[in-house]
Amino acid sequence: MALPPGPQALSPMDLWRWLWQPFPFLEGLRARHGETFTLGIPGMPPLVVLTNAEHIREVFAGSGDDLHAGSVAVALRPFLGARSLLLLDGPEHLHMRRLMLPPFHGERMQAYGRDMIAITHEAIDAWPVGEAFPIHRTMQRITLDVILRTVFGLDDGDAHARIGGLLEQLLDVATWPPLLMPFMQHDLGRWSPWGRYQRLADEANRALLDIVQRRRAQGTAGRVDILSMLLDARDEQGDGLGEEDLRDQLVTLLVAGHETTATSLAWTFQFVLARPDVRARLGAELDAARAQGALTPERIAKLDYLDGVIRETLRLRPVIPLVGRELMRPMRIANLDLPAGVAVAPSIYLAHRNPEVFPDPDRFDPERFLRRRYAASEWFPFGGGIRRCIGMAFALYEMKMVLATVLARVDLRAASQKPVVPVRRAITLSPSEGMPVVVTSRWPRFVD
Ligand code: HEM
Repeated sequence: MALPPGPQALSPMDLWRWLWQPFPFLEGLRARHGETFTLGIPGMPPLVVLTNAEHIREVFAGSGDDLHAGSVAVALRPFLGARSLLLLDGPEHLHMRRLMLPPFHGERMQAYGRDMIAITHEAIDAWPVGEAFPIHRTMQRITLDVILRTVFGLDDGDAHARIGGLLEQLLDVATWPPLLMPFMQHDLGRWSPWGRYQRLADEANRALLDIVQRRRAQGTAGRVDILSMLLDARDEQGDGLGEEDLRDQLVTLLVAGHETTATSLAWTFQFVLARPDVRARLGAELDAARAQGALTPERIAKLDYLDGVIRETLRLRPVIPLVGRELMRPMRIANLDLPAGVAVAPSIYLAHRNPEVFPDPDRFDPERFLRRRYAASEWFPFGGGIRRCIGMAFALYEMKMVLATVLARVDLRAASQKPVVPVRRAITLSPSEGMPVVVTSRWPRFVD
């Protein structure tokens, strides 16, 4: 069975481009080989990359027993732990996912909205006025704080500061793209990148297990944080999650939820600041909401144009270029007879630029999302099917809270005219130089 055309063994130059410039690299492959092509990345099954919505729908409709995601994400195992939801497959994945889903339901989000807004106010208070600073860095701090408070249930204090500092260091080391290659994952002493990572990770593991044990001892009554809900979660047999299971899920939620959301926020600022018409329309929508009363989480969550701005940003700048599923048996997908052992990979980036689905695809046009609804195989920055991101509602909600709070309190401008381009930080693609901005005026906190 022949695979579609495309580089099955990447040359060192192509590997470099995949790691550092995946968007133009993928665009080049589609231009050369058409809408379905093969890509061979060392340490992974061959990827048959899909860009056509109908083919992608077939993948997302497939069963978790036939299509495994864990083997494609295997490079993440040393970072997340073998029991991570992202790495489990088949019945084990389904079981863990069922235990983890309830705290992520849309209606739960309101419990977190006030914390998200308060954390954003604290960050804004510390911004310099009239001086350039990278907005990506401060978005990272906000999204880390949000996770520590809403997911881990840590309020301000020593534990929060200690684990926060440790995790920032750890994520900084871990976001060096070559560390994703299994052959780089060798401990050659404390000064080697992997050695340094391992030592920090051991310390973070101990701190996380300590948080889990203390919460178990203190009890979870009356608490709304996600860790407390995971501690209380029981399956049909009445069994809960063990210590190691919980640790792996906490690390997963942190890694999957922190950098992704921070990067998407930074990109949203980049688009909004480049387009005065979009900024003006957002301002008008916020003013209209404030005319009805205080800017509460409930009111912010209903802002349609803001929602369109976020969705359009995630369309043009998905944090992950593609998602993969390895075939456990021979299957017919995308009109191809594919053998077991290869992976199909819906490309978020390329599908989001299909001109038949998104006319004038390079244009930033938030109103697309007010004009029509897109299918789950057309717009999928959060992946799809049984593996779709469990943090989707959480991330969209958080982005709205943070953006509305910032836009209501400060006037910002881009610090330079230089084009901002995507650069890779491990699995996500972030704005170059962290998207430098300048605050031109700041207003006091709004009271709600
Ligand atoms: C803008 C922010 C985010 C983006 C773009 C994003 C994107 C993704 C993508 C593309 C996947 C893979 C889906 C697939 O294979 O089909 C994923 C999985 C996942 N995400 Fe997110 N994510 C974001 C935020 C979050 C947040 C805030 C959390 C939790 C706090 C989270 C937790 C997870 C988990 C646990 C998985 C694994 C799901 C599974 O394998 O069943 N993500 N995310």
